[in-house]
Amino acid sequence: MVAATADLSNSETVRNIFITGLQNAHSLEKEAIQLMNRQIERIENYPEMRQLLEQHVRETEGQIRRLDEILHNFGEDRSLLKDMATQVMGNIAAMAHVPMADEILKNTFANHAFENFEIASYRSLITMAEVAGHAKFIPALEESLREEQKTAQLIHDQIEMITRRYLEREAQGLKADR
Ligand SMILES: [Fe+2]
Repeated sequence: MVAATADLSNSETVRNIFITGLQNAHSLEKEAIQLMNRQIERIENYPEMRQLLEQHVRETEGQIRRLDEILHNFGEDRSLLKDMATQVMGNIAAMAHVPMADEILKNTFANHAFENFEIASYRSLITMAEVAGHAKFIPALEESLREEQKTAQLIHDQIEMITRRYLEREAQGLKADR
């Protein structure tokens, strides 16, 4: 027997946790755009990754609009958002900001981690929306979740190709880092 879950749809605490979660996701997406744009500017020999990132920057702008709309529903002024990235993502961001000999590999690992962090975040927000009694926001959050899952998979699918090209270019004495 599964115990019935308590009805928390009127809980002020649950509502506040949901709003904080939405604000954190908003910060995370803003951070994502910065990270991706920096990589797009620097990539020279891996146009497939650049293209993937350009596509996901556009998607991420849409995800930020979705979060803005939900927050607006709660009377949260988006201009007041602090947009502080969480500690974990700050560290991954730092990793992606330091140019290294294997920059393209490190950035690919960081992008993969970032997308999976976002997948977990949206999955959690969907659960919060349900528990908080705001199921009407679930379709928008699910749309963003699907975009993150697709992007994580596309990054995953490029790891082998990027690694092989990196090794080939290094072995030939060509510029391989980015
Ligand atoms: Fe993303």
